[in-house]
Amino acid sequence: MKVSQALKQRSSCRDFKSTKLNEQEIQALIDAALASPTALNAQDLKINVVQDQNLLKEISDQCFSMFDSATQKKMKTRGANSIFYNAPLVFILSSPSEDYADLNAGIAAQSICLTATELGLGSCIIGLASQVFESDRKDYFSEKLDFTSDEKFCVAVAVGHENTSKDPHEFNLNQIREF
Ligand SMILES: Cc1cc2nc3c(=O)[nH]c(=O)nc-3n(C[C@H](O)[C@H](O)[C@H](O)COP(=O)(O)O)c2cc1C
Repeated sequence: MKVSQALKQRSSCRDFKSTKLNEQEIQALIDAALASPTALNAQDLKINVVQDQNLLKEISDQCFSMFDSATQKKMKTRGANSIFYNAPLVFILSSPSEDYADLNAGIAAQSICLTATELGLGSCIIGLASQVFESDRKDYFSEKLDFTSDEKFCVAVAVGHENTSKDPHEFNLNQIREF
């Protein structure tokens, strides 16, 4: 599959099957993250490959307990009981360095998403998980994920087989400015 095709075909999945990914699929996704560029080629982004459903549930439950009413309503509309939409695998991208951490993580997140599309898998970028690392249980979750004292959460990406899917978003041409 061409990258341009994957980009247009991909849409966020918010309803995963519980089916686990196989070793080759997981390795392809890890390779995609590792192949992603980092500023100054520092390669300091941490790629936490999380399949522990108990840990994912704990993170999700903590988020749900902190949601404002608008977010609660949105998750209810989506029929979601987990911020990870029951994905069997979640990449939690974190960094011990301040330098371009979120940019590096964003690039790796997109690489994971496009590779998931190529593999026939669904994906969803999950920024909401950041809430647990701003909560009073920050230390608990940082320890669970073996974060060093200076390490910060950047973004998460849920991956798995799609139970249901939706159309890709429409283009907003107002985003473009030409000079
Ligand atoms: C940085 C970032 C954070 C996001 N966080 C969440 C999230 O926490 N939960 C969620 O369901 N979707 C999240 N999304 C997915 C967006 O809502 C989604 O990409 C957008 O609605 C466009 O839809 P599409 O991906 O299907 O094209 C996030 C996307 C980005 C880029």
